[in-house]
Amino acid sequence: MLSGKKIILGISGGIAAYKSLLLIRLFKKAGAGVRVVCTSNALEFITRVSLESLSGNKVYHQVFGSGNDYTTEHVSLTDWGDVFVLAPATANIIGKLSGGIADDALSTSLLAFDKQLFIAPAMNCKMWSHYSVKKNLEYLKKQGVYIIGPAGGYLACGYEGQGRMEEAGEIFRIVSEHFSTGGQSLSGKQILVTAGPTHEAIDPVRYLGNRSSGKMGFALARELASRGASVHLVAGPTSVEAPAHQNIHLVRVVSARDMLGSCIQLFPVCDAAIMAAAVADYTPSKAADQKIKKDREGAPLELTLLPTTDILGEMGKNKKGQVLAGFALEPANGEENARKKLAEKNLDFIVLNSLEDKGAGFLHNTNKVAIIGNNQEILRYELKDKQEVAADIADTLEKYLKR
Ligand code: CTP
Repeated sequence: MLSGKKIILGISGGIAAYKSLLLIRLFKKAGAGVRVVCTSNALEFITRVSLESLSGNKVYHQVFGSGNDYTTEHVSLTDWGDVFVLAPATANIIGKLSGGIADDALSTSLLAFDKQLFIAPAMNCKMWSHYSVKKNLEYLKKQGVYIIGPAGGYLACGYEGQGRMEEAGEIFRIVSEHFSTGGQSLSGKQILVTAGPTHEAIDPVRYLGNRSSGKMGFALARELASRGASVHLVAGPTSVEAPAHQNIHLVRVVSARDMLGSCIQLFPVCDAAIMAAAVADYTPSKAADQKIKKDREGAPLELTLLPTTDILGEMGKNKKGQVLAGFALEPANGEENARKKLAEKNLDFIVLNSLEDKGAGFLHNTNKVAIIGNNQEILRYELKDKQEVAADIADTLEKYLKR
């Protein structure tokens, strides 16, 4: 897959730099050409000789080095590369890149590069959760930079947490996939996404609804479509506009019953479904044909509500190899209830969002989720923009689609 591809490997000064040596081996063994550009701090951790021996090319680390092939090595190098992989990426180089600073060989090369850039951050967990680093990475993501990891676990500084550079094998896999799919990792996949609330008619002018904005489902549809999937977006009535994208096919529905009808029709042709809609659990037994008049004597109005069909549960019963994911919106005992729903509805994974978390759930632009897999593994995420949450969910979906 990588035969003949040209990879620029950028290395900044972190202890994870030792993993980059293995990364060079993997790229080279797969037939790619590798040229390394690094900071002088990186050379405190690994040697120039190791890098040159493994890559078979001179290392570029000094803008004015007398051994450079060209006086403008940062431009000739970046013209040469098909992709740029920055691993490890320290907080410093991430900050420089997002701020447009070019004061050494690596940062100058990064600014001169205009093709696909991958970044594998590696740093102490407190640095990783620093607001500056977060802001910078958010900005870079929006520019189309592919952020790989970091993983969680034991860190060289003695802390345990998020910040370990992703393993070389995983970085290699992601970069290889980029070449095999043209960056469209979900191309050829049909995915059903539900979003928004449902409205259950009481009479021609009134309904029972809920406060779902549809933002989470829309963010998911956008993310999956940008990865090349053909997305069937079944959305209830929302005031937020549905995303417009050539890969998104929008089906507007009103009630839980309409949503069920569309999902049953679409699910058999799909490879996966993610049900983010807040479907009404009850619907009036009968919608009045005419507007219900107020009782002048003040008598209460009684409505009989009947349970709706659990759409996700139905799909769980009828799935034939599709990856099926749902959401669990829980007021309390989140994990326990989500695990129950995962099993009862025969899901592959479930996204738990707790109503207790500030800034999470309906109406917000942010969400805080945990993803629980059918192997009982749980991945907990911090409060993030819904678009970033969508990327985390899409990453999980991709893993399940490959199983
Ligand atoms: N769901 C569905 N059809 C329904 C109700 C829910 O497809 N009639 C889906 C939702 O889209 C979500 C998942 O089921 O993916 C869980 O929804 P949630 O409201 O959290 O749970 P319920 O199963 O409705 O249970 P409860 O309201 O008692 O928590």
